[in-house]
Amino acid sequence: MRALVAANWKMHKTLKEAEDYLRRLLELVPPDPPVELAVFPSFTALSLASEMLSGSPVALGAQNGHPEREGAFTGEVSMHQLADLGVRYVICGHSERRRIFGETDEFVAAKVRAAWAYGITPILCVGETLEERRAGKAWEVVERQLSAALEQGLSGPLVIAYEPVWAIGTGVPAQPKDAQEMARMIRTWLLERFGERGKAVRIQYGGSVKPENAGDFLRLPEIQGALVGGASLDPQSFWRIAQAAIGGKPSGEDGPLKLQRWRRG
Ligand code: PGA
Repeated sequence: MRALVAANWKMHKTLKEAEDYLRRLLELVPPDPPVELAVFPSFTALSLASEMLSGSPVALGAQNGHPEREGAFTGEVSMHQLADLGVRYVICGHSERRRIFGETDEFVAAKVRAAWAYGITPILCVGETLEERRAGKAWEVVERQLSAALEQGLSGPLVIAYEPVWAIGTGVPAQPKDAQEMARMIRTWLLERFGERGKAVRIQYGGSVKPENAGDFLRLPEIQGALVGGASLDPQSFWRIAQAAIGGKPSGEDGPLKLQRWRRG
């Protein structure tokens, strides 16, 4: 299973900054990298990114999408509109949206189903708060989020991002052993619920992933990728994280030596 390393820009970058970033990233990534990369710009840069990434090895993602096809939903962008731009992945249920914008488990479920309906792969974010972890309720919370979002079944390709809320944007990642344990529980749940089809779901870790620690997560047996916020805002840093997904520990700006054979140029 090819790992998916995703750059969630959140509310960052002007059009010019987005253009510079994508140009630099495309210079770094070889034509057929052994790890899949995807970039999730703000909506203002989505159309530009769609043009720049078309035919490239970097996939286009969206940070959010509304489940209705169209209508009176001021400020929203639909999955239908995203599909029209060639968006391949959409983040559903990010903790910032659950917390700041009050997104419920039911609304997240509607997004996941709509993404599939328009041929987009949802990245379903799940994760507990620090209080929930301290209270020994981490799995209970994650299981509730999974059950709600997938209540009506697994109707298409899926990525699950395990993102402990307390690790997002704090500079303090989870312990790799805790991420591995949670990923194993998620995998077991998927297999119990969906049988063989549960095997094809990729599980990412997210929360303060940096080039320095990416290998600790990406080498875990049950982790097949990372959802990266802050450290993805620089193309070189994002590329170094992606390189960690194929086994080498990032060492300096150019990445590990043994990766040279598949680097461009
Ligand atoms: P972070 O964000 O890498 O800045 O912690 C991760 C995320 O929110 O997906």
